[in-house]
Amino acid sequence: MSRLLVTGAAGNMGTMLRPLLRRPDRTLRLFDIADVTDIDSASEEFVQGSVTDREAVARAVDGVDAILHLGGLSTEDSWANILSVNVDGTQAVFDAAAAHGVTRVVVASSNHAVGFWTHDEAGGSDLPGDVGARPDGFYGWSKAAVEALGRLYHDRFGIDVVNLRIGSSFEKPPNYRGLASWMSPADTARLIEASLSDDAKGFHTVWGISKNSRAWWSGAEGAAIGYEPRDDAEQFADEFLAEHEWTFDDPILQRVGGAFCDHPLGQRMR
Ligand SMILES: NC(=O)c1ccc[n+]([C@@H]2O[C@H](COP(=O)([O-])OP(=O)(O)OC[C@H]3O[C@@H](n4cnc5c(N)ncnc54)[C@H](O)[C@@H]3O)[C@@H](O)[C@H]2O)c1
Repeated sequence: MSRLLVTGAAGNMGTMLRPLLRRPDRTLRLFDIADVTDIDSASEEFVQGSVTDREAVARAVDGVDAILHLGGLSTEDSWANILSVNVDGTQAVFDAAAAHGVTRVVVASSNHAVGFWTHDEAGGSDLPGDVGARPDGFYGWSKAAVEALGRLYHDRFGIDVVNLRIGSSFEKPPNYRGLASWMSPADTARLIEASLSDDAKGFHTVWGISKNSRAWWSGAEGAAIGYEPRDDAEQFADEFLAEHEWTFDDPILQRVGGAFCDHPLGQRMR
C-alpha cells in the first residue's frame, strides 16, 4: 500500500482530484488548513493544519511515499502572505520530505511563474515547458521561487521533483483564455499519475494543460514523463467566442499570464 500526501486537499483541485486519484493500493492522506468533512475512511486520512506550522507538516509527511503539494494561496495576495504561505510553507514541505525520506514531490507551480512570455516570443512554435522564469506578480514570483526550491532539494537530497506549470485546472475553462490554457479534471489526474511514475524520476518542469487545439504551450516536456492528455477545450469554443474574438492582438491571449500581468499588486512593484 502506498501513501500519497495531498496538501491543499480541500481546495478546487484537491476536491476534483480525490476520486480520480483513488487506487486499491493507495491511501490518500489529505492535508489542509480548512476542514474536509467527507473523508472516505477506506481510502483517505485527514490531517488538518497549516503549511506554516512545521510540526503539523511533519505529522502530515510522516509515513508517506510521495507528496502532491497543492496547498497555499492560489492567486495574487500581499507580499507578506505570499512569502509566508507559498514560500516558507513549501520549504517546510520539502524540509519534511527530506527529513522523512520521501522520494517524490510534485509541486503545483503556475503559468504565472512565466506569465510575461508572449505568443510572439514563442515565434510560431510552442513555448517550452521549462522556459525561464518571468513572473507576472508576487504570486507568480512565489511559484518561480518554489520551482527553484525544488531544484535545490533535488540536487542536495536527491528528491525527484516535478513542477507543474498549471494553466486552468477546473471542471470547465473559466473564461475564453481557457480555450488555450484549460486542463480538464481527467487530464489533471493523468498528469499527476505521470508525475508519480518512474518516467518522471529526476527533475522536470512541465506545462499543465489539456490537448487544446488553441494551445501554444509545448506538450514535449509532459510527453517526456508519460503525460498523454486526451481532452480539448474546443468543446467550449462556441460559448466563449460568442463574446470574444480569438486574436493574439488581445493582451489577455498574447501573454502567458493573461490578465494577471496587469494585476494592481504587480503594478505597485514597478
Ligand atoms: N486551478 C488552477 O487552474 C491553478 C492554476 C495554476 C496553479 N494552481 C495551483 O494549484 C494549487 C491548487 O489550486 P486550486 O485551484 O485547488 O486552489 P484553491 O485555492 O482552491 O485551493 C488551495 C487550498 O490550499 C489551502 N491552503 C491555503 N493556505 C493554506 C495553508 N497555510 N496551509 C494549508 N493549506 C492551505 C486552502 O484551504 C485550499 O483548500 C495551488 O497551489 C495553485 O496556486 C492552480
